[in-house]
Amino acid sequence: MSKPSKRGRCAIVPVYAEDLYTEEAILDPYPHYRALRDLGPVVWLERHEVYALPRYAQVRAVLGDDETFRTGGGVSLNERYNELLRDSMFASDGERHTFLRGLVGHKLTPKALRPMRGRVEEAAVAAVERVIAQGSFDSVGDLARDMVMAIVPDFIGIPEEGREHLIDWAAANFNCHGPLNERAEAALAVSGRMAEYASRLVTERSPRPGGLAHCVLDAMDDGRVDREQAISLMIDYLVPSLDTTVTGLSSAIWLFSRHPDQWDLVRNDPSLVATAFNEVIRFETPVRQFGRRVARDTEIAGVPIPAGAQVLVMFASANRDERQWERPEVFDVTRNPVEHVGFGYGAHGCAGQGLARLEAQAVLKALAQRVTRFEVSGERRTVNNLMRAFDTLPTRVIQGVRP
Ligand code: HEM
Repeated sequence: MSKPSKRGRCAIVPVYAEDLYTEEAILDPYPHYRALRDLGPVVWLERHEVYALPRYAQVRAVLGDDETFRTGGGVSLNERYNELLRDSMFASDGERHTFLRGLVGHKLTPKALRPMRGRVEEAAVAAVERVIAQGSFDSVGDLARDMVMAIVPDFIGIPEEGREHLIDWAAANFNCHGPLNERAEAALAVSGRMAEYASRLVTERSPRPGGLAHCVLDAMDDGRVDREQAISLMIDYLVPSLDTTVTGLSSAIWLFSRHPDQWDLVRNDPSLVATAFNEVIRFETPVRQFGRRVARDTEIAGVPIPAGAQVLVMFASANRDERQWERPEVFDVTRNPVEHVGFGYGAHGCAGQGLARLEAQAVLKALAQRVTRFEVSGERRTVNNLMRAFDTLPTRVIQGVRP
């Protein structure tokens, strides 16, 4: 039970020997999460040399203390990717982070997004009617991706050319977050393509005025950021803005196909759509975990953690913690789990969650008005170091009006 940390200090902490990044563990992580939560609030992951935080209370506390638990040099489990993230907003801390987030963050506030609602709802109805007319379709490729691609690239304001690669490049960046396994190695080799694309956006000044990306050009033009920082900021928003929402939406359809009683509740009362989407993100948390670097000697739940160590903030495990949630293994759209950590929490809490919710709720609402049942078979999950997602979700729908 006693384990020396990377920095040589000895902490009394339970040890878990399993690799959390095998294909098997990625496809079904929940037994590992339960075992980790049962072991304690802090568990040393022998294979990955990191302190895991599998329980909700410590995840919230660490996310709320960004002075001690820093993203800089610590979000990814491998140093090569941490080094590549060095200039990013996502992996910056303190005043620098506040400044960088403020350059673009105002485009994503609820007030700023309000005028988009009508367009998003129209796009959702069009996407849903198109797949219903097809009869059988892939909820990932034909519905969730089409919807997100109809909204987000225009919102960011990027040109048509190159859009088709964004989701694959983002998936590669997500894979880079793992330990340096084969998946991360392969992804590191292609992660530069997103950077090349972002560099072209800046050089060619192609983002459209009024879009999110143009705020980055404006900040560069008036000297608030340099060119390298501008490229990095483009990547900060391009990477998480698409596949995360595609995943949330696909998981929603998968869950409703398996829990038709819950779909009936939503169809009967479409005002449940917002809480239902929250429950989807709690139950099938798309971003499983991120790391943090410990800035000074500290303690978590009485366990001494030395400066320089890394902790793994396990959003997906925290969202299933029996200590926090009643019957966490039950998918319940009436639960309204507003305090879930599926969008993170604190200084680095998801900057784009308002947009993600707007898109997902619009699609669920359009589906609730038209679809009685989802029949899913032959689905294939994605094997990714960070995301819990589907590659494909073959779906048939039964149409009908509300019960
Ligand atoms: C269902 C969809 C989404 C999920 C589940 C999700 C999840 C997350 C999580 C867990 C974090 C926290 C990272 C941390 O603590 O280190 C995060 C941060 C972030 N997200 Fe999202 N996200 C989603 C959609 C989006 C969208 C649509 C955008 C952009 C339009 C976006 C932009 C960002 C950015 C920029 C950050 C970094 C914030 C910072 O470091 O200050 N996300 N997201």
